Amino acid sequence: SAEDGYRLWLRYNTIDNPALLQQYRQQITSISCPSDDARLIAAHQELQTGLSGLLGKKISLQTTVTNGTILLGLRSHLPFIRKLVGDTALARLGEEGFIIRTVKHEGKNVTLITANKEAGILYGAFHFLRLLQTQQSIQQLSITSVPKIKLRLLNHWDNLNRTVERGYAGGSIWDWQRLPGYIDQRYIDYARANASIGINGAAITNVNANAILLTEEWLQKVAALANAFRPYNIKIYLTARFSAPVEIGKLKTADPLNEEVRKWWKDKTDEIYKHIPDFGGFLVKANSEGQPGPQNYQRTHADGANMLADAVAPHGGIVMWRAFVYSNETPEDRFKQAYNDFKPLDGQFRKNVLVQVKNGPIDFQPREPFHPLFGAMPQTPLMMEYQLTQEYLGFATHLVYLAPLFKEVLDADTHAKNNSTVAQIVDGTTDGHTLTGMAGVSNIGSDINWTGHPFGQANWYTLGRLAWDNTLTSAQIANEWIRQTFTNKQAFVDTVQQLMLASREIQVNYMTPLGLHHIMGYSHHYGPAPWYNKAPRADWNPVYFHKADSIGIGFDRTAAGSNALAQYQPAVQQQFENMATCPETFLLWFHHVPWDYRVHSGKTLWETMCDKYYSGVDSVRWMQHRWEGMKNYIDAERFSQIKQLLAIQEQEAVWWRNACLLYFQTFSRKPIPAKYEKPD
Ligand code: GCU
Repeated sequence: SAEDGYRLWLRYNTIDNPALLQQYRQQITSISCPSDDARLIAAHQELQTGLSGLLGKKISLQTTVTNGTILLGLRSHLPFIRKLVGDTALARLGEEGFIIRTVKHEGKNVTLITANKEAGILYGAFHFLRLLQTQQSIQQLSITSVPKIKLRLLNHWDNLNRTVERGYAGGSIWDWQRLPGYIDQRYIDYARANASIGINGAAITNVNANAILLTEEWLQKVAALANAFRPYNIKIYLTARFSAPVEIGKLKTADPLNEEVRKWWKDKTDEIYKHIPDFGGFLVKANSEGQPGPQNYQRTHADGANMLADAVAPHGGIVMWRAFVYSNETPEDRFKQAYNDFKPLDGQFRKNVLVQVKNGPIDFQPREPFHPLFGAMPQTPLMMEYQLTQEYLGFATHLVYLAPLFKEVLDADTHAKNNSTVAQIVDGTTDGHTLTGMAGVSNIGSDINWTGHPFGQANWYTLGRLAWDNTLTSAQIANEWIRQTFTNKQAFVDTVQQLMLASREIQVNYMTPLGLHHIMGYSHHYGPAPWYNKAPRADWNPVYFHKADSIGIGFDRTAAGSNALAQYQPAVQQQFENMATCPETFLLWFHHVPWDYRVHSGKTLWETMCDKYYSGVDSVRWMQHRWEGMKNYIDAERFSQIKQLLAIQEQEAVWWRNACLLYFQTFSRKPIPAKYEKPD
């Protein structure tokens, strides 16, 4: 039924393994929670719902402790916790970490979920449920878990009229018209889903911002959402339109160094905090793609960010200032522009500013090298921005599991120092930052199943899990998501996990193999259009990026070309600068390669390109075939949705392959290898 999609990974169906079910029933008899803090209420309510479902019998809240009690509490509630866990161990948990332990208390066997702060207990409760959902032993638990990253956010690109920029799963879930009076159950379920994976913040509006959002009427609506999210430890952030002082404040300027402007933002911020005492802060896109910003007044990004930072600082707020900037008027390779703008500003930002950087230098392509700003601004906390909504990856129609893409970037070594992988830059290890963040541009909409494609849910899930623990592998995350979302049956888990792990590379192969990028349809970004050259800006044209000609294809970013490579550390430059040693996956990102050039396999570039495109299509057929075998494991509705979507994906993989090869062939003037010449 439709509910199967709606419930995401929080299904709580009764455990289908009788022996295990019996064990769990013995080990879990009740819940005890000696506090009425809103977050603890959320925690024990979730445990009641979850455990009652999973165990197929009512598990209720009790004041007495018996064998099998799940005991939630802080040390201030229960002095024995302090003795048991110790001050230093508790302190190490910080604001959000938790401990789950099997202990003896008053002679009874109980499972203790404790933390330094209430939020930790909430996360511990969800973790405990996950253990059961994935059918793990809960016999002798001794788990300590602390998030690696402080701000774990979704960025919704939702407009105030309920359209969603780059949203492919229906309209916005924020029902502004009926807010603040009406709290849709969907808000609560959204918050539960986020809390279950550790997401603790949401920027709920489009980065291409509307200043109206900051007016009284709208702030009341936002406050109602904040109230709904608070028990789930989720803070709200708003996108701030830089020209708001002019548009809604009637000032003549938005110059960040102007006293009146500064006062306007200060007053506006105070007003926001009156409505939302725990407001998180602002997310800002400025001087990018036509958005206003400090550069309109000959000021820098730091001037702009600091003005807002000063306004939120007295309230403990933060500013996330985006580094996604490039300008058509600059002749410079678009790849280089964010670095050129931001690197010189390192050290000039206030303490409560993070610069939010997309994972790669262009724009959420199926594969990009890591953004050269990572490792280049040691004095500034850099927040990772990923995109969950698949703007360039087949929208909510293609099955692509994004964890391998995210991990590839996190695992990349920036060589800025010792211990300076992108993961370590972002989680603060490298430069000792404690203000750290990771955001995902949301793929959530009003579709019954939230993300349009049932597998889109996995990408939302991944963002939360990776932000909590960036050492988790793609396989681990897929495995636990599949078990919770579909079933624990091993054959299903194994097959679907394999399919998910392969899906990203398959897509790269049928869309943009060998380091091709940004060759999709103009503006809507769906489907292939490598030939397109009519965009109003050169740097939006596919031809700008692939540069195919009679000699070869690819963007020369070595010293002989745009020299974007110089923005990386020497050790990274060395990996890419030589055509002969550059990994094939990044070849056309950095080199203009002759059609006849022989790659590592000894085949020519052209033959290799044909191989990749053809193998991409074949692999989608492999996915279809594997999925077909999953029919009897899950509900008919989701089975059929995925089957139909895979069929479209197959057609469109063929479309990508044929369009790209036939177009590029007009330059290469070489045949498609004979082995592929049978029609299909
Ligand atoms: C992409 C996307 C835009 C978005 C922009 C951004 O370019 O196509 O819709 O506004 O990214 O991240 O700001």
